[in-house]
Parts: sequence; structure tokens; C-alpha cells
Amino acid sequence: MSVKEIFESMDYGPAPESAKEALAWLEAKGGIAGPWVGGKRGELRADMESRNPATGERLAGLTKCTEAEVNAAVKAARKAQPGWEKLGGHGRAKVLYAIARGMQKQSRLLAVMESLDNGKPIRESRDIDVPLAIRHFYHHAGAAQLFDSEMAGRAPHGVCGQIIPWNFPLLMLAWKIAPALAAGNTVVLKPAEYTSLSAMVFAEICAEAGVPPGVVNLVTGDGETGQALVAAEVDKIAFTGSTEVGRRIREATAGRNIPLTLELGGKSAYIVFDDADIDSAIEGLVDAIWFNQGQVCCAGSRLLVHEAIAEDFHARLKRRMDGLRIGDPLDKCIDVGAIVDPVQLQTIRTLVEGNTAGKTYHAACPLPATGAFYPPTLITGLSPSDPLMQEEIFGPVLVSTTFRTPAEAVELANNTRYGLAATLWTENVNLALDMAPKLAAGVIWVNATNLFDAAAPFGGIRESGFGREGGPEGMRAYTKPAKLAAAPKEQKAFEGDGAPEGGIDRTAKLYIGGKQVRPDGGYSRAVHGPKGALLGHASLANRKDLRNAVEAMNAARGWGKATGHLRAQILYYIAENLSARAEEFAARLNALQGGHKGADEVEASVRRLFTYAAHADRYDGRAAGVPLRGVALAMKAPTGNIAALAPAATPLLGLVSLMAPAIAMGSRVTLVASEPFPLAAMDFYQVLETSDVPAGVVNILTGDHAELAPSFASHMDVDAVWSFSDPALAAGIEKASAGNLKRTWVTQRDFTTPDGEGEDFLEAATEVKTIWIPYGE
Ligand code: NAI
Repeated sequence: MSVKEIFESMDYGPAPESAKEALAWLEAKGGIAGPWVGGKRGELRADMESRNPATGERLAGLTKCTEAEVNAAVKAARKAQPGWEKLGGHGRAKVLYAIARGMQKQSRLLAVMESLDNGKPIRESRDIDVPLAIRHFYHHAGAAQLFDSEMAGRAPHGVCGQIIPWNFPLLMLAWKIAPALAAGNTVVLKPAEYTSLSAMVFAEICAEAGVPPGVVNLVTGDGETGQALVAAEVDKIAFTGSTEVGRRIREATAGRNIPLTLELGGKSAYIVFDDADIDSAIEGLVDAIWFNQGQVCCAGSRLLVHEAIAEDFHARLKRRMDGLRIGDPLDKCIDVGAIVDPVQLQTIRTLVEGNTAGKTYHAACPLPATGAFYPPTLITGLSPSDPLMQEEIFGPVLVSTTFRTPAEAVELANNTRYGLAATLWTENVNLALDMAPKLAAGVIWVNATNLFDAAAPFGGIRESGFGREGGPEGMRAYTKPAKLAAAPKEQKAFEGDGAPEGGIDRTAKLYIGGKQVRPDGGYSRAVHGPKGALLGHASLANRKDLRNAVEAMNAARGWGKATGHLRAQILYYIAENLSARAEEFAARLNALQGGHKGADEVEASVRRLFTYAAHADRYDGRAAGVPLRGVALAMKAPTGNIAALAPAATPLLGLVSLMAPAIAMGSRVTLVASEPFPLAAMDFYQVLETSDVPAGVVNILTGDHAELAPSFASHMDVDAVWSFSDPALAAGIEKASAGNLKRTWVTQRDFTTPDGEGEDFLEAATEVKTIWIPYGE
């Protein structure tokens, strides 16, 4: 083509980046990616292989680490951990900083390796993946430096097992490793089987940066290697990947007292209002669904467009799709690269070909003759229940439907089992900020999409998983309380056959939806004092009562919209009413448990109510300054419906200590009272009834914890289960929670100490919602 012709057509000419250095690097390493353990390369075996999805060519062999190799890596991490922690915040900061510098020096190699191995356009790996990964290490060098002040009273977990997917191999590695190391943990990370090569470059950068041997360990392999890592003696698991595997990991770790964070799939809504800047919204959509070929957990894969502009919008979108350039990922002019592997390509094809609803449009842009490529695709006219509106395709396929009102947009957007992200396009700031809190998602982008930063928490709700990565929230997930007072010993109910005290028997009911109700089963049990006197009868709640309590919580959702000021007022009012009846409660507690500590317990309960009344309008979100033209608001949203099992000991204080943080943060709660000493809770109903607590915000059941716990944990409308009851319940709760991947918090605390209150409780009662808005010049 002559220069004149080029000027006339304005076609792009290819501008490929050379693969030479990256391929030479691989060859120099023996052409095999394998484990990196204790600061050294492990055994290299070509058990599997890594291929370039754009060409099908073999890039390297891959060791599939065995259980023994995984355990050896965990052992190396265990050995290195105390020394790494003792290095102190500044010592660790220097190493993290050196890693960031090292990555910067190798940024070209990292970008090329990433594009070769994953198929993503070099423009993306060069300008997004690698710089964001580096930024993560810089930011967390700061987190390490300030660890003692920012994370006072916190300590690392120990050894973290981390499993990452193939869509952002280096970036996900950075998201996992940087905060873990900053907090003083050591790690064993498993890259995804399709994409382990950039992790090998990273291992060398670590060695050069002075990371002590054993602090960072890598085990290569597939799902079986991942399973071995989950089964190994690690102190925490962090996973990013499919919801299905996330669920299996939840089940596999149940009852092992291992904190877990899961970043899973999504089907995120991309909402365009009729007043949006249409051209920007279309460019945004290119980033939302064709960035990384749509293989992005938070991809804006469900377009919801205002009916009035839908026709025009779809027409313009198709024109833009036709102009996208698909091809060699190493070509700097390419918009869309290759799908990670032929297996994933086939998954996408099967899903799209299996769809009979709506109209399918494949972009007219030419596809390379060979390699794992799939055209940008738009499917319009789907209805919310169509499988492709619900299933994650994880490819360059956008599905679309229309809406008429903002309320309908919210309903459609939230009609999914996932809750990772959502995007809003409108020129009306009032509309955007009205919509943002209504969308059930962990991340909301306003007039932008797919923005990420180390300072901004990222993560989902519902079946998109739990936990946050980035910002202080991400750091906290890699820490635990440095020291906890021993929890009181297991206590059993007293037995006896004495006559009712005072001659009158009392059978307390359950407290559901603001009313005292009889238990569905009609059963109750006698409650005796330490000397055998009959103190009353406590109702035995069953699954039906539990369901009613959940319905009552659902009906009380409006509580989440109450202001912090109002929630504080109600907590103060509860405290005031409890205080007015302090003597009566103290006497009841003494009768139930024996001894004379009842008055102290009532006093401590009043204080705790004051504490959370104080937090109600104080535990606020923050604005994260991100290095983009915007600000990320990390808002605290209520967790939702919480079921909480109270500890046996301190039956009033335990109950109050779980109720108060939940309702202070706008969540609703169903409490299961202390199993041996339920009567204190039942007197508490009357306090609630006189304190303006809206019906359904607090519900209280009494009964058998072992029976109720798994039912709560498997209930699809319960968002979180907390258990401070018998530790033996942990396995059942955590296993059953895998159904809707609800958050669980199973622990033991002494509620008479400061361990029984504070940020852990507030954090559990809230979800961080990150809202990115344009801001500044
Ligand atoms: P996956 O969830 O199977 O793999 C993610 C990681 O988990 C890999 O490192 C894998 O080796 C490991 N793994 C697999 N089974 C395991 C097990 N039982 N125990 C421990 N680790 C295990 O994802 P896959 O198969 O690569 O992709 C399948 C689908 O998952 C995709 O089509 C997509 O829908 C979704 N996906 C979602 C991602 C996200 O970021 N949310 C990322 C990758 C995939």
C-alpha cells in the first residue's frame, strides 16, 4: 500500500511488539514454569503446558505440583513467617518498595509475557495490568510502613494460601501478595494453569528485591493442586475465580477456623439513561465488555438501556463494534485479543449457540484465521429470565434489554444471584447518586467503568463472594486481633425439678416481627436455676419460626435507610429503658446463673448500647483518593439480614453485644438467645417493645442452637450468620453457608472485655460499597 493510499483509507497498520525477549527468557529458564519454593525454583517437569492462545503454539511446559510439593511450599512459608513479621513495618515496606521498583524495570517483559500467555492486547497489559500491579506494591509498601499505627492491635494470620484465575494473572497476584506481605504474612500462591508465566518473572523480581526465602512461594498446577493448597495447613485462604469453585472451597474449609475471602463471578449491569452522553457511554461499553475479551469478573455484561434511546443506542453500538480491531495480542493497534484457551472459547460458543431468544449480532470486524478468537457480540431483546441474562458468559458477549423508569432499572439490575459491580451513565448527578445505593453490588461506577485502584476496595456481595481487596479493608482481611482474652468455658443448663419460684410458672414466647408469638411447634423447656429451682419455661423455636423471623427481617428493610442519628437515638432509648429496670434484670441474671454479677452485666450492657449508639453516626465511609480523574467513595452499607447465635455465658451482655452493632449499622438481626440461660433475653423483649425499635429489626428466638444454626446458614434470605455459641457448630454453619455464599463469622469472645466490641463487629455488620464518581479536573 502506498503512503497516499494509507492516508486516504486511514487504516491502521500493524505495530507488533516483539516476543523475542520473552521467548528467550523462557528458554533460558529451561522452557518450564514450575514451583518457586523457599527462594528457589523447584522441580521442573512438563506435566502440563502453557500455550499462546492467539497462535496455539506451546510457550512452556508446566509442573503440576503434587500434594507433597504444595505441603513443602507451605512448610517453607511457615518457617519464614516469624522472621518476616519481625522485620517490622519499615523493613517490609522497603522490600515491597523494591518489588515495585523491580517490576517497573521489568515492565516490558511482564507485559509481553502476559499478552503471550493470556491473549490480552498488549495495550491493556502494558497500560493497565502491569501499572496497576506495580501501583499495588507501592501502595502496600505504605500499608506496611504504617502498619503499627493503621492496624494497631492487629497481627498477621501466618501463612496465606492464595489461588488466582487466568484473566488478570499478574494483577491478581499483586492484589493477593502485596497486602498479605505488608501485614507480615507469608504466602503460597497458585497461579491459574493457563497463565503461570508472568508469576515466574515475578518470582525472580522477588529474589532480586531481597524478599527473604520462603516469604513468597508459588505452586503451579491445576484444580487438583489448588485443592491440595486448600487442604494444606494454611491460616487463611484467598480465592478469585468461578462461583462454583468458590463454593467448593467454602465447603472444604468449613469448621477449620480458616478465614476466607472469595472474589467470584458476576453479571454486572451497565445502565444507560436517556440523558447520558451516548458516545461516552458507548466508549465505556467497549471497556466494560470488550476489555480483556469480556473475561472480567466485573464486566458490564448486561446492558440495560432506556427504552427511548435503545434503537439509536444499539445502532451506534453496532457501528462501534464493527470498528473494533481483533487480532494478534502483541499488536499495539489491537482492541480485542484472543480468548484465553480453546476450552474457554468453546464454553462461550456453546452458551451463545444454545441461546434462542432475542437477536444476536456478531461484529463485522474480520477475525484472524487461526487462534482462539471470538467476535464482539451483542444480543438484544432478551428478557430477565433468559439464561444469558443470568449466566456469566465470561467472553466478549453483551446481552441487552430495555427499561422505562429508574425503579425498573434497579429491579432489572438487581435481578441476579450475583452482586459484584454496576455501571451508571447519566448526566444527572441526582439520579446517579439516588441509584447508587439501591443497586445490589459491591462496586458502582458512575460515567466510567472498570476502574480499579489499590486504595479503593473491590469485592462483591451475594454469590459474587465476600471480602474486599484494596484499601484498608483489604489489609484488614490479612490480619486478625493480635490478642484475644480466653472466652468463658462452655456452660450447660442447670437441671432440677423444683417448683416454680414464687408459685407462678411463666412460659416466655418468641419475639418475631415486634410481637411475642408462640412457637410453631408448641414445645418449650423448663429453665432451672443453679440450685434446681424452676425459673420458667423457654420456647423451643423450629424452622418455621426461623422462617418467620427471616420474613420479619425482610419486611424491615427500611431500617437500612434510617439515618445514623435515628439509629443512635433508638439505641440510647433501649439503654435508658434497660437502665430503668436494672435491678430487676440483675436479679434475674443472678437467679439464672448464680453468683452476684448480674448488676455488673446489666451495667456493661448499658455501656455497650451507648458504645454502638455512638458508632451509629460515626462509623462512616471515606473518600479514597485514586490516581484517576475521580474519587472512590467507600461507603458502609448494611450487611442485611444477620442471624446471630449468642454465647452461653453473659446471656444479656452477649445478646446486646450482637444486637447493637447489627442494628447500629442498619442491618436487621435475628438473635438466638443463650442456650442454657435464655430467660434474660425474654425479659429483654419488653425493653425492645418500649424503645421504638421498628417491628422486625430485632427478632429473638430461643431453642436448640445445633438445630437452628444450619437452618439459618442454609437460608437463602440470610446474608450473614454470626456464631459465638458452641465452637462445634462451626463446620455445620460454614458448610451450609455455601448455598448462597453468605458471610459467616464463627468465633468465641469474652464479652466482658474490650474484645466483645469494636471494629470487628462493625465491619461484620456492614458491606463496603465502593462508588466511583468523576471528581476534580
Ligand atoms: P476456576 O474457578 O476453575 O479457576 C480459578 C482458579 O482456581 C485456578 O487457579 C484453578 O486452578 C483453581 N481451582 C480450580 N478448581 C479448584 C479447586 N477445586 N480447589 C482449589 N482451586 C481450584 O475458573 P476456570 O475453570 O478457569 O474458569 C471457569 C469459569 O469461571 C469461567 O468461564 C468464568 O465464568 C469463571 N471465572 C471467573 C473469574 C473471576 O474473576 N470471577 C476468573 C476466572 C474464571
